[in-house]
This record gives sequence, C-alpha cells and structure tokens, in this order.
Amino acid sequence: MILPIVGYGHSVLRVKTKDIDETYPNLKQLIEDMFETMYKANGIGLAAPQINLPISVLVIDADPLKENYPEGEGFKKAMINPEILELYGEDESFEEGCLSLPGINENVVRKNKVRVRYFDEDFNEYEQELFGIQARIFQHEFDHLNGKVFTDRLSNIKRAFLKKKLNDIANNKVRPAYKMVK
Ligand code: NI
Repeated sequence: MILPIVGYGHSVLRVKTKDIDETYPNLKQLIEDMFETMYKANGIGLAAPQINLPISVLVIDADPLKENYPEGEGFKKAMINPEILELYGEDESFEEGCLSLPGINENVVRKNKVRVRYFDEDFNEYEQELFGIQARIFQHEFDHLNGKVFTDRLSNIKRAFLKKKLNDIANNKVRPAYKMVK
C-alpha cells in the first residue's frame, strides 16, 4: 500500500523516534509499504517519521544509483533500531534531496564511512561498515530518526536562502507527483 509522505513543517519530522521490538504489529507489511511508497516517489531512502510513524525504522535501496556508485548495487535494506557505532573516513560533499522537502537539493557534508548496528525485519542483529553512497543515504535517513532533516546541516546563510521554499512546503503550496500530507 502506498502511504502519504509527510512534508516539511509537520511535527513528526522533529521527534526522536522510539525503538521497537518483536511485538510491533505487522512490521513486515509496514516495511513492504515503506518500500512501495519510496519506489513510487522515486526515492532511494525513507524513514518511518516520513510516513507519520515516530518509530526507528528506515528503508534504503541504493541500487538505482549503481552506475555512478557501484557500492550501491544490491544495497537494499530495512533497518530497525539502527545505531551509529562510528563515523569515520573523509568529509565528503554530496547533493541531497528528500521526499519530505520536494524541490530542494543542496550539498551536504558528511563522513563517507560509518559503522552501524541494526536489526533486520526478523530481528536478526547486524554490525556492518557502510561506505560511499551506502553511508550517505544511511546518515540522511538516520537523521530523520533523530528529528533532523538535511537542511538543518546547511549554513545559516544557505538556510536563509531556502526559507521561502521551506515555508512553501510547510504551507502546503508545493505539490510533488506523490501524495504528500501536512
Ligand atoms: Ni529525507
């Protein structure tokens, strides 16, 4: 089922999400719906707050970017209760966008390597090193679980330039091709 995506300005994008456990109802269906919603909107990552659920769940599929980022090939994951164990490597700048902030694309500096711990949809625990586009998308989605969006990471000047665009999204004046709610 395709779910509506929450736009910038909605309070759910500003909460710290809660971890879930095996008793969370219909988790597999939820994850399937998150992938379907993400694909429909041509996204490569989606975090649960973006579908109005303040829980620590995110999905990523970097495969569409494999031509330019070979490490993205086959990198399709649902991550439950993810944690960052270590951020390392180099600072890298990369142009990000977000389904909750349609029409905004800006360079964001992040580390290009991250060691993470997470559970899959069967609650198997993993520890894994992500790099390049994997690390990039993960960090963007992980921010969502901490009430952050990528424009929070821009300079004050950059954000001032974006103020009108952000307000337009918050005021429901931007209509992306996918279903968005305020
Ligand atoms: Ni996003």
